[in-house]
Amino acid sequence: MKHLLSLEKLPRTDIETILRDATAFKRQRGAHPAQPLAGQTWALIFSKSSTRTRVSFETGIRELGAGVMFLNANDIQLGRGEPIRDTARVLGRMIHGAVIRTYAQSDVEEFAEFSKIPTINALTDDEHPCQILTDIFTFEETHGPIAGKVVTFVGDGACNVPVSWIFAAAKLGFELRIAAPKAFQPSSEILKRAGGKIIVTDDLNAAARGADLLYTDVWVSMGKESEAAERIKVLGGYQINAALVKLAKPGALVMHCLPAYRGKEIDAETFEAHADTIFTQAENRLHVQKSILNWAVS
Ligand code: CP
Ligand code: NVA
Repeated sequence: MKHLLSLEKLPRTDIETILRDATAFKRQRGAHPAQPLAGQTWALIFSKSSTRTRVSFETGIRELGAGVMFLNANDIQLGRGEPIRDTARVLGRMIHGAVIRTYAQSDVEEFAEFSKIPTINALTDDEHPCQILTDIFTFEETHGPIAGKVVTFVGDGACNVPVSWIFAAAKLGFELRIAAPKAFQPSSEILKRAGGKIIVTDDLNAAARGADLLYTDVWVSMGKESEAAERIKVLGGYQINAALVKLAKPGALVMHCLPAYRGKEIDAETFEAHADTIFTQAENRLHVQKSILNWAVS
């Protein structure tokens, strides 16, 4: 039994296992030789909105043989102040695994500790590990091993998505460049914890030059809505558009974890030009998370 709480804590060999098995889960969709979750019941406990993560986990859990319930955190007693550790001890006696989307990273960690059932981080303020595992899988499907490649993240360089990229970079041996205004750059403490080759700069063009992958995420993450006006002002210009793509390596991929805000972190033309990659990336959440679920119960 294992938890996926962060990429920081996930060993490289486990990342490699998950990515390798995801290929088989994708190929064998509809005809999986085994049902690793047969007879189980899983819960999704979400405190934030979701389209991709919710649908891909609900579908994936069912296709691996388990039943699944979606619990909006506000609809259960958690939303009225019942402690995480009590919720975890109740669910741990009833169900077989949990997928949690919330604010504090410590809440997912506490749930894992007290429930004693496989617990998967489906996004916290600190990390979005399932997303970045999927992104790497998607990159490698067309461009081969990510080791030695250059990945450029553009936008809010301090939120969950780039932080998970930071922890992946050192483990998998690729260069990560984060192009963000000073106020939205990752902390030096996180960079120190991660190690690896991470370049943080406010020079967007320099960061994009020769990149194998240009990647962006929303400027206003969930929970940061009150800062929207300020973020849009400060992050203005940190956008993936045709001029930026020209600086990247010929054939470079453009990815977005979605949802996308056209005219903000990416322009509409570039989004449509790379829609096939971006929606394959979204589809791959299903295949990679099946591999994560299989890994978690083994
Ligand atoms: N990328 C992602 O996690 O999407 P959702 O917020 O729709 O789950
Ligand atoms: N950084 C974004 C990711 C959404 C999938 C957020 O936290 O809202």
